[in-house]
Amino acid sequence: MNRPEMSVLFDGLAKSYDKANIFFSFGFDYYWRKRLIDYLPTSTDSNHIDVACGTGAIIKRTAKKFTGNIVGVDISKDMLKIANARISAPNVKMEHGDGQALTFKDDSFDVLTNGFGLRNFPDFRKGLKESHRVLKKGGQAFFLDFQMPKNIILKKLFRFYLHKIMPVLGGMISKDKAGWIYLGASIEYFSENIDLESEMKRIGFVEVKNIPMTFGVVSVFIGKKDEPQALA
Ligand SMILES: C[S@@+](CC[C@H](N)C(=O)[O-])C[C@H]1O[C@@H](n2cnc3c(N)ncnc32)[C@H](O)[C@@H]1O
Repeated sequence: MNRPEMSVLFDGLAKSYDKANIFFSFGFDYYWRKRLIDYLPTSTDSNHIDVACGTGAIIKRTAKKFTGNIVGVDISKDMLKIANARISAPNVKMEHGDGQALTFKDDSFDVLTNGFGLRNFPDFRKGLKESHRVLKKGGQAFFLDFQMPKNIILKKLFRFYLHKIMPVLGGMISKDKAGWIYLGASIEYFSENIDLESEMKRIGFVEVKNIPMTFGVVSVFIGKKDEPQALA
C-alpha cells in the first residue's frame, strides 16, 4: 500500500471532509460517533484528549459533556482550522501535533478518543503507546474505526464499495482520487492484518472490548489503563 504524507492528504481533503463523511457513510457517521460518546464515562469533570481530532466532530459532542480540559490533536493544520472555527469553548483547545509523539505529560487525561485516525499513523503501535502513556491510571481509551464485516457477502459488497465506488466519487468531490484509493486500502489492510484488541492488551490496556456496529462495518475498541494495585 502506497502511504501518502498524512498532513498533505488531509490538508487536501479538509474542506470537503465533513460532507464527504456524511455522503460516504450514508449519514451513519453521525450515529457511530454518537454511540462512541454514549460509551464515554459519565463523570462530567473528565479531562479529554481527542487524538487525530480532524475537524472536531468528536470534540463538538464532548464539549457538551465534559467541563474538564479538552484537547484536540491533529497532524493536519487545515483540518484543525475547521475544528477551531467550529468549536469555541473556554475548556477546549486544538493543538497541531503527532499522535505518535504527544507533548503531554504521563497520566494527564481521564478519557482518550481516536476516531478513524489510528490506522493512518505511520506506526500505529507508537500511537497506541502514546495514548496509553498520557491516560491517567484508570482512564479509558476509545478507538473508533472501520472493520471488514465477517459475513462473506457483506464483505464482498464492502470491498467493492471501498475500492471501486469510493475512489471514483471521492475523486470527484475532492480531486484527490489517490487519497481515496489509499483510504479504502488502509481500511481493508488494517482490519484484515491488525488484531487491535491484542495490540491494545500487549501495550498494557486492560478490560479491552470490541463493540461492533452496523453489521460489523465499524467497531469501537475500548481499553483501560490499569490502576495501581492496592497494597494488601
Ligand atoms: C479520517 S480522519 C478522522 C478525523 C476525526 N477523528 C473524525 O472522527 O472525523 C483522520 C485524521 O487523522 C489525522 N492524522 C493522521 N495521522 C496523524 C498523526 N500521526 N497524528 C495526528 N493526527 C493524524 C489526519 O490529519 C485526519 O484529520
